[in-house]
Amino acid sequence: MDRLEKTLIYVAIALMAIFACLVLYAGVGLGISLPTSHEHSSPFTRGEIIAKENNEFEVYFVARMWAFDPPEVVLPEKAEVNIYLSALDVNHGFDVVGTNLNLMAVPGVVNMAHHRFDRSGEYPVICHEYCGLNHHKMLGMIRVVNSEEYLRWKEQLAGNVSMGEKISMERDCAACHSTDGTEDIAPTFKGLYGRTTKLTDGTEVIVDEEYLIESIQTPNKKIVAGYEPDMMPEDPLSDEELRQIIDYIKTLK
Ligand code: CUA
Repeated sequence: MDRLEKTLIYVAIALMAIFACLVLYAGVGLGISLPTSHEHSSPFTRGEIIAKENNEFEVYFVARMWAFDPPEVVLPEKAEVNIYLSALDVNHGFDVVGTNLNLMAVPGVVNMAHHRFDRSGEYPVICHEYCGLNHHKMLGMIRVVNSEEYLRWKEQLAGNVSMGEKISMERDCAACHSTDGTEDIAPTFKGLYGRTTKLTDGTEVIVDEEYLIESIQTPNKKIVAGYEPDMMPEDPLSDEELRQIIDYIKTLK
């Protein structure tokens, strides 16, 4: 055998050995794992952010035409996050700009990945799988802030929730919309956010922020099947009040 040929074979073997060692080191030494499908969890239909101890979080993302739920996630710096991802309708992509997080959202399957957000900043979430007309508008946002800002944000959210409850009492929302699941004059607020609702015209909508805002501002536009129109007064709320009442409704699971 030619000497050069021999050398090349040795170099190739050495390179393969180095690559194998690097893969082992990444997997065992650094604990880096590929995103996997999570066989033991059943698909979910609403997004959720669960704060655990030690700066650990579980974020449940639902992808659907054409939004991510939750649309915005706020996390403190150095948050260790387990991301669980499912889709409601068709395949979607899930790419977090500025990180190596890149998943597919597949209906009926839960895919998961782990990430540690070391630096504060804005991390847009984009769908990179063509999923229909408004694919290009399918955006989410992960905002990573320092710990003081995070505390401030949490306080503000808690404030919004209690203000939202107050508005609900003062503007008499609570007179028709129960919070315990009782459905009488109007749909209950309990479990409202994130659910799929049938309308009088037979179509189905997902109760997200957009739908809630529309239904508060123009109550007669979409009537939930089984209910009468002209029952809900058009009582204008400011943008801030809308935010507060939506944050409140979200807590009623
Ligand atoms: Cu969802 Cu493209």
